[in-house]
Amino acid sequence: MTKRWQVDPVQVDPGHPAIREAADKLRQGEPVAFPTETVYGLGADAGNTEAVERVFAAKGRPADNPLIVHIADREQLVGLTAEPNELSKRLMDAFWPGPLTLILPVMPGAVSPRVTAGLSTVGVRMPDDPVALALIRASGRPLAAPSANRSGRPSPTRAEHVLDDLSGAIAGVVDGGATGVGVESTVVEAGTAGVHILRPGGVSAEDLRRALPGIAVTVAGEMNAGADPLTAASANQPPGAAAPETEAPKSPGVKYKHYAPKGALTLVTAREEGARTAWINAELARRKAQGERTGVLAAEERAARYPAADAVVVFGREAEPQTFARGLYDALRRFDEAGVTFILAEAVDEAGIGAAVMNRLRKAAGGRVIRLDDPTNPGE
Ligand code: TXA
Ligand code: MG
Repeated sequence: MTKRWQVDPVQVDPGHPAIREAADKLRQGEPVAFPTETVYGLGADAGNTEAVERVFAAKGRPADNPLIVHIADREQLVGLTAEPNELSKRLMDAFWPGPLTLILPVMPGAVSPRVTAGLSTVGVRMPDDPVALALIRASGRPLAAPSANRSGRPSPTRAEHVLDDLSGAIAGVVDGGATGVGVESTVVEAGTAGVHILRPGGVSAEDLRRALPGIAVTVAGEMNAGADPLTAASANQPPGAAAPETEAPKSPGVKYKHYAPKGALTLVTAREEGARTAWINAELARRKAQGERTGVLAAEERAARYPAADAVVVFGREAEPQTFARGLYDALRRFDEAGVTFILAEAVDEAGIGAAVMNRLRKAAGGRVIRLDDPTNPGE
């Protein structure tokens, strides 16, 4: 049976009875889910291969997708990674604890090879959440923890989401209430060329640039935006250099379909607000006539403008873009509860945290994007 330990994040410490019980399970090699400031994670002792394998099994996660290791203080890096470079240390100073994962060279044998999926690096972060920190301290171990959802489902931002996906498959969940950020951590690699974002998340590119003036911050898949990858890559090469081969994604998880509700979701972008609302209502009416149960993912400011939808799910307010991140995954799960089979989602502004929200929406859409501004490409 899966236990649910309720804890008050304001009163938690490593000696709390629920935390001690959950930490005992972790030390015994049982997976336990816990809140972080981003999403709930499914934790296992990072050094225990059997425990880590249970996490992969419970999630149905592909074995080539490595896990992030969670620590409670910088001393836990000793023996886990090689000495981090100066830029990585500056990032830790600026953003830890917080939603930033650093890819660092792993010390051989420090964690189970299942955690790193055989890579020579390990993703590490220090969550900014009192429950997570208390649990890591009580267990006395770095905790490998992917998001605590079934693979491919929206990440959990409440204990209920974890139980919906994993009840019966894990020892328990520490319930510390809803998470604050709502999207996962930003995964970065820091080196001589600057900071490279492998996965956008709770720390935005703008946050990184503000904290590190003069340091280049690049985003995977965006460096050559709009151009043919080969041409653009060659353009960055010194004259005469060979064109690079197409690279495998450097953050293995980013190639998988993710965060998807059960209904088919299509993202709708448009510069002209009124045109989008009209198009969405017309398309919903057409789909409904074909027997679909329809839904719209909308900003609160526009929720009342979709009379054609069977279900309008609000995921945040345009006036406060961080609310889109906080509400996104819960909103995607609501479509499932409403039995919606066809979903149109409003695109959001990509500034700041909006980049991470749009990244997750594109994945949830599995590439289905309607660009109403682009006459050559509506309904790609
Ligand atoms: O906010 C978060 O990061 C949450 C909470 C629970 O901490 N965790 C999370 O884990 O999102 P997961 O497993 O769903 O995503 C981990 C991401 C994947 O894209 C994975 O490929 C990447 O981090 N990753 C992990 N280790 C890596 C490594 N050594 N090199 C490159 N990418 C790595
Ligand atoms: Mg995940």
